[in-house]
Amino acid sequence: MVATILLFLLLSAIFTAEAQQGESNVSLGSSLTPTTKFSWLSRSGLYAFGFYQQSNGYAIGVFLTGIPEKTVIWTANRDNPPTLADVTLNFTGDGRLILQSAQGNESTIVDPPERAKSASMLNSGNFVLYNSNKDIIWQSFNYPTNTILQGQCLLADKRLVSSVSESDQSTGIFQLVMQTDGNLVQYPYIPELKVEHSYWASNTDGQGNNVSLCLDDDGLLYLLNSTGKYLSNLTQGGYPTNGIVRLMRIDADGIFRLYSHNLEKNGNWLVNWSSSDNKCDPKGLCGLNGFCTTVDREADCECLPGFVRVHQGNWSSGCERNFTAESCQIKNGIMKYIMSEASNTVWEDSAFSIMQQILTKDDCEASCLEDCNCEAALYKDGACRKQRLPLRFGRRVLADSNVALIKVGISTPIIYNIAPMVHEKKPQKGILIMSISLTAFGLIMLVISGIAIYRNRVWTYKRLSNNSGNVGLSVDVSPRSFTYNDLEKMTTGFKEELGKGSFGTVYKGIISNVQQVVAVKRL
Ligand SMILES: *[C@@H]1O[C@H](CO)[C@@H](O)[C@H](O)[C@H]1NC(C)=O
Ligand SMILES: *[C@@H]1O[C@H](CO)[C@@H](O)[C@H](O)[C@H]1NC(C)=O
Ligand SMILES: *[C@@H]1O[C@H](CO)[C@@H](O)[C@H](O)[C@H]1NC(C)=O
Ligand SMILES: *[C@@H]1O[C@H](CO)[C@@H](O)[C@H](O)[C@H]1NC(C)=O
Repeated sequence: MVATILLFLLLSAIFTAEAQQGESNVSLGSSLTPTTKFSWLSRSGLYAFGFYQQSNGYAIGVFLTGIPEKTVIWTANRDNPPTLADVTLNFTGDGRLILQSAQGNESTIVDPPERAKSASMLNSGNFVLYNSNKDIIWQSFNYPTNTILQGQCLLADKRLVSSVSESDQSTGIFQLVMQTDGNLVQYPYIPELKVEHSYWASNTDGQGNNVSLCLDDDGLLYLLNSTGKYLSNLTQGGYPTNGIVRLMRIDADGIFRLYSHNLEKNGNWLVNWSSSDNKCDPKGLCGLNGFCTTVDREADCECLPGFVRVHQGNWSSGCERNFTAESCQIKNGIMKYIMSEASNTVWEDSAFSIMQQILTKDDCEASCLEDCNCEAALYKDGACRKQRLPLRFGRRVLADSNVALIKVGISTPIIYNIAPMVHEKKPQKGILIMSISLTAFGLIMLVISGIAIYRNRVWTYKRLSNNSGNVGLSVDVSPRSFTYNDLEKMTTGFKEELGKGSFGTVYKGIISNVQQVVAVKRL
C-alpha cells in the first residue's frame, strides 16, 4: 500500500515536472515542418511558435493557437514570400534557427548575437533563445511587427508597422513610432518622415529620450519614462484580468487599437480603445491622386477628376490619369485642357508657386491653365497654390473650403474630327439636298456638327457636374457620330443655354472652346 502511494507520488512528480517543462523548452536538434509537427507550444497551450498558413504557403511566427480565431502576433522575415510545404525549420545542433528547403537552401529565421543553447515559447507570448548561462540572447518581444501583447513594451526608437491586411502579414503602409524625443507618433510608412506627415501623436515630446509604450494585463496602455514615471495613460485600465488576453495592434487601416479576447466565452476579439474614430485620419490610405471620404463612418476612396484606380479593389495603389498627358502647347488655337475640381478636399501642399490674394477661383484656374508646369492647384481663401502631380494624403473635409483644381485634358484636337463625321453619317434626308447643293450643305454641316460635338460635351459635363459628389468619373469625351435628327435636336436652343453659365468651371471651359471653334470656322 505504502509502496503504491510512494510510486504514485513519484510518478505524479515526474509527470508534473514533465508537464511544467513540457514543450516550452525547445532543445537543440528539434525541428518543425508545415504539415506534420508545425509548432512549439507554450506551457499554457495558448501561444505557439512555428508555421502558420499564409496565402497559399506558410509563414513562421508566434500566434495564438488556443482560440478558434488564430491570431498572428509576430512574424519572422515578414516580407519573405510564403514557403512551400516541403521545408523544415531546424534548431540546429550548433544553435542556429534556420529554414531549410527540400533543395537544401538555407535561410536564417532569427539572428541572435551568439549561438543559442535552448529556446522557449513562454506563456507570455514571448519566444526566446537562451545561451548556456540561461541568459536570454534574443526575444521576439524586442522585435515586434504590428502587435504588442499584455506585459510587453514598445521601446524607445522602435516601431510597429501595419500589415498589408488581416490575412497578409507583410509590411503595410502605416507605422507607429516610439520616438527618442519621448513622443509616440503615427505616420504613413514612407522613407522621409516629417512632422507634417504625422496623423496622430501622444504629445509627450521633451519627456526624455527613453520613453516606452507599455500594455498591462488590466488593459492599461501607457507611456513610461526610464525612471518609471507614467507620462501619459492612453487607456484607463482596471479591466478584468482573469481568462482575458489583451493585445494592441496597428491595423492595416492605420489605426491602432486595444483588443481583448475572453478565453472562457471564446467570442470574437473586442475593441476596447482605438487611436481615432475617423477612418480617414491615416494619411495615404487612398494612395496617390486618391482621396478618402467617409460613408456611414467607413472609409471610401475616390480618385481626382480625370483619374481612375490603378488596381480595382486596392486603395493604396492610388489613381492614374485616364488620358495621355500631351504637351502643354495650345494647338490650332484650341485649348486642350480644362480645370476640373474636387471641392472640400485637403491635400499635402507641395506648391512650387504660391499666389496670395489672387482674387477668385477662376483666376487660380486661369493661372494654372496658362502655366505648363502647373498640373493642379489648391485654392483657398484667395490663395492659389500651384502643384505638380501626384497629389497625396487627400481626404474630404466638409468643413474645409479648400478646392483641388485639376488640369484635365480634352482627348483629341477637335478640329480633325469634323470632316470624317460628315462622311460617315450622311443624313438620309439630306441626300436630295446634297445632290442639289453639295458644297453649300457640306459647309453648313461642318458648322452644325462642330457645334453638335461641343453641345454633346456640354451635356456630358452637365451630367458630370450634376453628379459632382461622385468624382470617380470616367468621362467619355471621345468623338461620336450623330444622325441628322440628333444634330437638329442638339442645336435647338443652343444659344439660350450658352448664356446661363450654371455648370461651373467645367462648363465655362467648354464654352470658351466652343467659341474658339466657331471663330475658327468663320475664318
Ligand atoms: C531545456 O532542456 C535542456 C535539456 O533537457 C536543459 O539542459 C536546459 O537547461 C533547459 N533549458 C531551460 C531554459 O529550461
Ligand atoms: C521621468 O519623469 C520624471 C517626472 O517628469 C522626471 O523627474 C524624471 O527625471 C524622468 N526621468 C528621465 C530619465 O527623464
Ligand atoms: C496612469 O495610471 C497609473 C496606474 O493606474 C496611475 O498611477 C497614474 O497616476 C496615471 N497617470 C495619469 C497621468 O493619469
Ligand atoms: C496594393 O498595391 C500596393 C502598391 O501598388 C501593393 O504594394 C500592395 O501589395 C497591394 N495590395 C494588395 C492587397 O494587393
